[in-house]
Amino acid sequence: MSYRLGLIGYPLGHSLSPWIHENYLKRANLNGSYEKIEIKPDEQFDKAIKQLKASDVDGFNITVPYKERIIPYLDELTKEAKAMGAVNTVLKRNGRWIGYNTDGIGYVRSLYLSQPKVEKMKTDRVLILGAGGAARGIYHALIDEGFTQIDIANRTISTAKKIIKERKPKIRAEAIGLESLKDITDYDLIIQTTSVGMHPNVNQTVISLNGDLTGKVVSDIVYQPLETLFLREAKKLGASICYGHTMLLYQALHAFEIWTGKTIDDTNMADELSKQLEGE
Ligand code: ATR
Repeated sequence: MSYRLGLIGYPLGHSLSPWIHENYLKRANLNGSYEKIEIKPDEQFDKAIKQLKASDVDGFNITVPYKERIIPYLDELTKEAKAMGAVNTVLKRNGRWIGYNTDGIGYVRSLYLSQPKVEKMKTDRVLILGAGGAARGIYHALIDEGFTQIDIANRTISTAKKIIKERKPKIRAEAIGLESLKDITDYDLIIQTTSVGMHPNVNQTVISLNGDLTGKVVSDIVYQPLETLFLREAKKLGASICYGHTMLLYQALHAFEIWTGKTIDDTNMADELSKQLEGE
């Protein structure tokens, strides 16, 4: 068979997903294509989605601004997608559309791969900086993985509170205003999920790090630049760091596994991806 895959969103100009998935198809020895399908917000989303449903597309990713808007068109939602209220991957099976969310779990897989010790840190203290869609996905995925102490610090504390209120199983979780964050050395794993520090604002960090971070893990989901100022500061203070670009690969890999039932052994694409990013 030949897989027909794609990405829906707007705008999609700079998306790396076609490059990643075409590489995965090649590495898995599968035939297929991955196309960008831009739907402008002022065009008829409904009409475009119905046409897509009638087509022979086997699966697609869905990104900004349609991760919530796609939900009424789906026949089934996984537990994760339902909990997050957002879908980034759709599989067509027997004519039915099933919605998944691979954002959070993709991030956690990339974190485990780059810092294997994190798998043994489930009862340690985790701090998520930011409370947008990415933070929410990561919060859910960490709970699903069995992490038991997760605080969310955000400029707007009410958004952090909302995420925690939506899902607070038997774990310790607290919402904190960014300005009230004091001793970040209390945390063992710090995950930066805001857009602060992203190109062109490369001289900004969401909080200034201080203290001895030896033995701690600090991760930033921003991948342009590859090494953010936040990560550079964390490294100087002794932390092990985790770059954002591998998250892209693992969210995509999880989607690829859902569509094809195959995984890629040779996922050693992080270096190639960093070259793609630097070449941009
Ligand atoms: P995504 O869905 O990609 O995670 P988002 O929903 O736009 O993106 O979330 C952006 C996050 O970055 C939010 O937590 C936002 O804080 P607010 O909820 O207070 O808006 C945070 N953020 C963006 N710019 C910021 C800045 N200059 N300082 C602090 N936090 C910032």
